Amino acid sequence: MTRNRNDRIDPAHRGEPPAASADGATAHAVSRWGSGLLFATSWISGVVFAAYIAAFFGGTLLAGAGERWNESLPGLHDPATPMAIVAIGVHFLTGVVLLLLGPIQFIGHLQRRVPALHRGLGRLYVASAALAGIGGLFFIAARGTVGGAVMDIGFGLYGILMVVCAALAFVHARAGRFSQHRAWAIRLFALTIGSWLYRMEYGAWFLVAGGVGTGRGFTGWFDAVMAFFFYLPNLVVAEWVIRSTRSRLTPLASIGSGALMLFASSFVALVTWLFIQGAWGRRIASGLLPMSS
Ligand code: HEM
Repeated sequence: MTRNRNDRIDPAHRGEPPAASADGATAHAVSRWGSGLLFATSWISGVVFAAYIAAFFGGTLLAGAGERWNESLPGLHDPATPMAIVAIGVHFLTGVVLLLLGPIQFIGHLQRRVPALHRGLGRLYVASAALAGIGGLFFIAARGTVGGAVMDIGFGLYGILMVVCAALAFVHARAGRFSQHRAWAIRLFALTIGSWLYRMEYGAWFLVAGGVGTGRGFTGWFDAVMAFFFYLPNLVVAEWVIRSTRSRLTPLASIGSGALMLFASSFVALVTWLFIQGAWGRRIASGLLPMSS
């Protein structure tokens, strides 16, 4: 077998990329595919959650049966505090907008090809986020949450962070500081996903641990943890995403990131399906046909 003279030459000197960078490109692609999958799965799940809110809370209200909101949580609809009903109602409406629109804003192709759409939807998105936060905060001030002080603090901080992230995403975009704008928009997106994750995490906990630590009226130790856990870890993941797109990860970290995203996507898909089979599917149907249930 004849050996080519080039076999002994360093690949870099033959004008080929070194083997390590080919591996790096593959690993980086795995990471990007993982992020894309998680992005798509979360969006679909968010749309299902939005459908539940619009059909159940919107449908029952339009049918003059707003008191049925209390089937979800006691005290959501109390005629004695009409302003609290308005506040939580505004937060429902804007929550639906956030769940539907958020992912669209991250589609790079649309941002580049139709910047006016990105700007228009962006204004609607940050206004909705601010209103969802303010509506939730007003409800807490007017009525308090079902879980008492710890839940008030957890949800109160959530509302404040939502307003702050929305404001900073907007201010940086207006000033043309797009790197900071993107970072704050990712944080805001991570927060809006949190309100959906809250339900997912409870569902998963009941599945794997039988709901240990949950108490009547959200007063168990697990409820106290969950008052913060549905959004603080998301912000950590958001920081990871912000940094991983700025600097190229090592091949090993890229593969790890891809595997983590794949696992998270599977988890999201499974729990969403369980929720549809459980409360959401039934409530969507009863909201659309309120008199039939
Ligand atoms: C994407 C954004 C949001 C969505 C989609 C959303 C959705 C919901 C839904 C559907 C409920 C009724 C309970 C249920 O059926 O599970 C609820 C309750 C509530 N939400 Fe939100 N929410 C969002 C953001 C916020 C924010 C930013 C706050 C901040 C303060 C907040 C505070 C509350 C409070 C205080 C309640 C009532 C809890 C209780 O009565 O104990 N939400 N939310």
